[in-house]
Amino acid sequence: MPTTAPPATRQSDLVRAARRESVTRTPVWFMRQAGRSLPEYRAVRKGIPMLESCMRPELVTEITLQPVRRHGVDAAIFFSDIVVPLKAIGVDLDIVPGVGPVVARPIRTRDDLDQLVPLTPEHVPFISEAVRLLVAELGETPLIGFAGAPFTLASYLVEGGPSKNHEKTKALMHGDPELWDALCARLAQIAGEFLRVQAEAGASAVQLFDSWAGALSRADYAARAMPHSAVALGAVADLDVPRIHFGVGTGELLTLMGEAGADVVGVDYRVSLTDAVDRLGPTYAVQGNLDPALLFAPWDALERRVREIVEEGRRAPGHIFNLGHGVLPDVDPDVLTRVTALVHECSSRR
Ligand code: CP3
Repeated sequence: MPTTAPPATRQSDLVRAARRESVTRTPVWFMRQAGRSLPEYRAVRKGIPMLESCMRPELVTEITLQPVRRHGVDAAIFFSDIVVPLKAIGVDLDIVPGVGPVVARPIRTRDDLDQLVPLTPEHVPFISEAVRLLVAELGETPLIGFAGAPFTLASYLVEGGPSKNHEKTKALMHGDPELWDALCARLAQIAGEFLRVQAEAGASAVQLFDSWAGALSRADYAARAMPHSAVALGAVADLDVPRIHFGVGTGELLTLMGEAGADVVGVDYRVSLTDAVDRLGPTYAVQGNLDPALLFAPWDALERRVREIVEEGRRAPGHIFNLGHGVLPDVDPDVLTRVTALVHECSSRR
């Protein structure tokens, strides 16, 4: 298998856990570990819009490294956003602070699909450059590349912005399944190529974020979302990078998310790791699953929960400690540092 990741990261606890190999201690990182919880992030972002930040390789490198330096986590997550590849191919969208991605011309008809041309590496030279800069700085610490899954991307494009009920998305999925599948096929190419660009530039693992997949029934997920996610994950199947597949509220979908082509299945806090492992069996490693809100609880309560999760994770064929969803902006970053140290200490196999 061709490999482009730095060889030193192949023996990291993160990559070994994802491969269901033995580890020295449970690896830990946090979704949204870079970002507003860190004063050093707020300082370097001052006056620079989110999407512009994502297109400046030196700034991306600095922001990605900040939580690694501060918390001592076992992986860096590439600083970008799921809508960056859409912006790169010319979709008129912006990330509005406190809101999220907002799309100027939502996609609802066949003609609207013209906005979505195939992504090529030439659309995102700033991504390859930032990954190369980062990999040079990170040494033995793996970099995780990522993309948004077709369903979650489609939800933003069809609704025109963040949505609680995904009503226009579901209306399209059920009202015009051919158009839905054509939309998701384009998004699967874009997501897959975005993962591939990062892996080829040196990312050691990739994560597909299907944040809103939990809004779907198992049957609808199986028929109308999973096949497209499988195409996206398949785009890096020939590269030696483990694939993490994450969603929120996806307890009923865990096995399908594994079958879509994952090595590691993300578990949110609504399902215990014990139940997740029972459902998934020995084929997949798991990632999760501390409730991000518990980072605001008194240390005693938080410590108890972290220890429980590490214990539950021992039953999994591989466990990467993480939150059930992203770090909330108001969290005290010192708590994240403390949780990282606690996971390392209570899981040490040496
Ligand atoms: O540290 C990391 O995890 C890496 C960076 C990262 C960002 N977005 C940076 C970001 C990652 C992995 C994402 C993925 C992403 N973006 C997802 C999937 C993960 C998830 O949280 O479910 C989704 C749904 C998006 C879309 C999006 N982008 C939202 C909902 C928001 C929040 C809007 C807000 O202001 O509350 C964004 C903006 C965004 N992406 C920020 C960051 C750090 C905040 C922008 C800022 O700091 O000004």
